[in-house]
Amino acid sequence: MAALEGKVVLLTGGSRGIGPVLAEAMARRGASIALAARDEDRLRAVAARLQQQFGTRTLVVPVDLREQEQRVRLVASVRAELGAIDVLVNNAGLETEGAFPELSWDVIREHIEVNLIAPMSLTQLVLAEMLGRHAGHIVNIASIAAKSGAPYAAIYSGTKAGLAEWTRALRLELRDTGIRCSTIFPGYVRDVGMFAKFGVRAPWLVGSCSPAQVAEAVVDAIEKERLEAIVNSRPLRYVFTANELSPALGDWLMRVSGAVDFQRRKVGQR
Ligand SMILES: NC(=O)c1ccc[n+]([C@@H]2O[C@H](COP(=O)([O-])OP(=O)(O)OC[C@H]3O[C@@H](n4cnc5c(N)ncnc54)[C@H](OP(=O)(O)O)[C@@H]3O)[C@@H](O)[C@H]2O)c1
Repeated sequence: MAALEGKVVLLTGGSRGIGPVLAEAMARRGASIALAARDEDRLRAVAARLQQQFGTRTLVVPVDLREQEQRVRLVASVRAELGAIDVLVNNAGLETEGAFPELSWDVIREHIEVNLIAPMSLTQLVLAEMLGRHAGHIVNIASIAAKSGAPYAAIYSGTKAGLAEWTRALRLELRDTGIRCSTIFPGYVRDVGMFAKFGVRAPWLVGSCSPAQVAEAVVDAIEKERLEAIVNSRPLRYVFTANELSPALGDWLMRVSGAVDFQRRKVGQR
């Protein structure tokens, strides 16, 4: 897909955190944006800003992505109000940190539903029309935790790894259909979102990124048809490669970089 100008984007997680920054980057390029999340007031505030700043055509859809019937309704209302969906950005996500044995089954199930099942479901719901038009783009926001499991965020890591490999498989399956699939792997994001709310700095060796860098990677993925992007201030590919070559070396790098201690401290586990 060459440009976002005039395209219809469905963005989940549009109410807070990174979502509004992604929305702004795509609105700036002339896309119409459907914003989905549970908090209607916040969605309306984001939509009002986009309308005011860029004259963006917006749609606000309050939705609980844990529910299949609400996911179906979401796609139908975007289709009815804005037209065929050109780009789906699966950005909504949950991260409840804690020691795995202590997590309740409800929390585990909720993470799988929001981080993995909802993107799969929404993708299936938009794909039929995209296949008919031989065009469309699915962008899934994973995490570096998909590449190197983060302790005390084990469910999060598992769902994001699932999201990433499912996207890769889908991309190969859809190769000759004109539909593109991209995965974005942000590191710890500063200023807004689920990490910034802890008010701590990521270990120097691990690094971090800004929400604007994540937004730039999403826009790049769409406009330049990039398959994947790791967004981080430090080059982490060597850690991920080490994981593949030797799991023991990968685990050691996670420990010496301070990532394991950092995760433990972050959730108050000692
Ligand atoms: N922040 C980071 O450091 C970081 C790093 C790597 C990857 N990521 C990924 O980036 C994405 C955005 O993260 P963020 O930091 O912006 O998170 P956030 O500030 O916690 O925002 C999460 C978004 O998901 C929505 N959401 C959560 N549960 C939902 C549900 N049941 N139904 C509908 N919407 C729901 C929330 O909206 P409502 O509460 O209004 O429903 C909110 O808009 C996530 O996929 C996350 O895993 C973040």
